[in-house]
Amino acid sequence: MLRLNETYLGARVTSDEVTRGSAAHVDVLARCQAGEERYADSLGWLHVDDWASDEKIAQVEELAARLRAQADTFVLIGVGGSNNAARAVLTALGARDGSLDGTHRVIYAGNTLSAFELRRVLEDLEGHEVVIDCVAKNFETLEPGSSFRLLRQWLVSRYGEKDAARRIVCCGTPGSHLEDLCHEHGYTFTTFPEPVGGRFTALTEVHLLPLAFAGADIRALVAGARAEEALLRDAGRRPDENPAWRYALVRNLAWDAGLRVELLSFFEPRFRWFSKWYEQLFGESEGKGGRGLFPASAEYSEELHSLGQYVQDGTPQLMETFLDVSGPGADDSLVLGGSDIDDRFGYLDGVDFWDINKASFTASREAHAKALPCPTIELDRVDEEHLGRLLYFFMFSCYLSAELLDVNPFDQPGVEAYKQLMFEALGK
Ligand code: PA5
Repeated sequence: MLRLNETYLGARVTSDEVTRGSAAHVDVLARCQAGEERYADSLGWLHVDDWASDEKIAQVEELAARLRAQADTFVLIGVGGSNNAARAVLTALGARDGSLDGTHRVIYAGNTLSAFELRRVLEDLEGHEVVIDCVAKNFETLEPGSSFRLLRQWLVSRYGEKDAARRIVCCGTPGSHLEDLCHEHGYTFTTFPEPVGGRFTALTEVHLLPLAFAGADIRALVAGARAEEALLRDAGRRPDENPAWRYALVRNLAWDAGLRVELLSFFEPRFRWFSKWYEQLFGESEGKGGRGLFPASAEYSEELHSLGQYVQDGTPQLMETFLDVSGPGADDSLVLGGSDIDDRFGYLDGVDFWDINKASFTASREAHAKALPCPTIELDRVDEEHLGRLLYFFMFSCYLSAELLDVNPFDQPGVEAYKQLMFEALGK
């Protein structure tokens, strides 16, 4: 399960205010639970089953099985919402070098224009059997477009035209130029759901395919998301007991109290890419019209030794949301043995690192909460089911939070402006 713990909210945003805010704005929750007509072209993610039905999952699994038989390496070519969620889930599940099972791995391209990084990607393919997946909703974005050509050419030089074509999958909008290319050249085409913006595609085939290739249990991921949806969209449940709603209210009360940054902090480095996904989700959805908390993240305990000072004592502009895993999984225990050498760490003899890490978490939260609001999102454990819950929780909270803030969560006018200037500079 997933819970919102408000014990450490502190004085600037209180639970009572959250409960009062819930009553005052309850219409916002109701209309988001139902899905607003004005955003009908962007709400395809709201009902998980619409784009992750059992039938769709079976199709994805079938394609993933075919690709797994052909290759050990899947290059996910995509940027932002076309890349982050799969990477977030795989990293959280403990993928090593992009692989969960030690036989099949996902590596990433299409998210950089750096020649140095792209050379490394190409080097990393040597000695491997490769398939590529170009994920591009509008197929105009520079990073995936240029990487797709680079990797297509690499595949053709390695395998020849015909075999290369069998190794290319594209995920795009039906009717797009990308689909035309697929038909013309015999690449496999999969559907990027039209009514879902990139950053809300976590639970669609955009990400389910790379996850299934890497051996993740996508059925459990989707089941977790469906269960979370059932809880959060249950209109019969008391609004002030809805954790996504309360979290959205906390964020907005923090904004009203003059805070300007939300730090997502975690003590498990496996959430490193999850935090990038979160940053994109909230950054692109809320940061418009001079509004929105700036979403940032902190990887503790390491960054207690760099950012910790500022968090505790710097410009008072932060709220800090902790992401905490309540119970240890199979690999989460490591007992530190006693030592004959007096290294002055005798107090740790026989203590499990799980408990040492928890002590660091609880102490930091207690200290930080003296200065800033510190809600905690608690997950029972890290597995596909809980990650599915977490992804849905954040997407739904983001929708609610943007509505409270009175911004359109589903467009990104600022991003479009820089793209236009870049295209002009490149002579497009
Ligand atoms: O959330 C979004 O809409 C964006 O971040 C997109 O995912 C990102 O810009 C990539 O877009 P595309 O898939 O069209 O290349």
